[in-house]
Amino acid sequence: MPTMNLSMTEVQGVASRRIVLIGPMASGKTSIGRHLAELLGWRFTDTDQVIEQTSGVDIATIFALEGELGFRKREHSQLAALSGQTEIVIATGGGAILMPENHPLLIRESHIVLTIVSRNRQLERARKLRNRPLLHNSDPEKVLEETWKTRQSLYYALANTTIDTTLGSPKELAVRLHTHLTHCMVL
Ligand code: S3P
Repeated sequence: MPTMNLSMTEVQGVASRRIVLIGPMASGKTSIGRHLAELLGWRFTDTDQVIEQTSGVDIATIFALEGELGFRKREHSQLAALSGQTEIVIATGGGAILMPENHPLLIRESHIVLTIVSRNRQLERARKLRNRPLLHNSDPEKVLEETWKTRQSLYYALANTTIDTTLGSPKELAVRLHTHLTHCMVL
């Protein structure tokens, strides 16, 4: 049985029809979110994937052509377009918490789940995945460490529930998260 660290902070018992996943790159937001949506019978969306679909190019290309700021503007528009939608699980990009303008869009009528992961596991996953232009440099570990340092207080300030995704399959983690949220009367 994998050990799992699930913690609920505040808003216990407040029912929500929107789950928003936030957290560092390669911490399992998309895979866990997809399984969670299936368990709930809700829609699932991943803002990075929608940005790629609507722009017709991948995220690395957007960063190359428009810089990080161009990508952040697209991310903001995508979050705004999703605002007000219910019965939906939304996986966000790791930097979606950076723009203060995004915070009301993330928080509104949502239960926010923060996915955290050990650095080793994160690196292992990040190596297999494309579309992380911030890691396209000689020292991805340093980038992951630095982004965590600068972002962690924002993540924890926004999160209602935190799940450690280091151990366990995405499906197992989604089931545990679903049980936990149901038990705490969030769902
Ligand atoms: C980013 C994370 C990525 C993607 C983009 C920028 C970040 O999403 O949005 O490469 O700033 O942390 P994931 O968190 O899904 O990797």
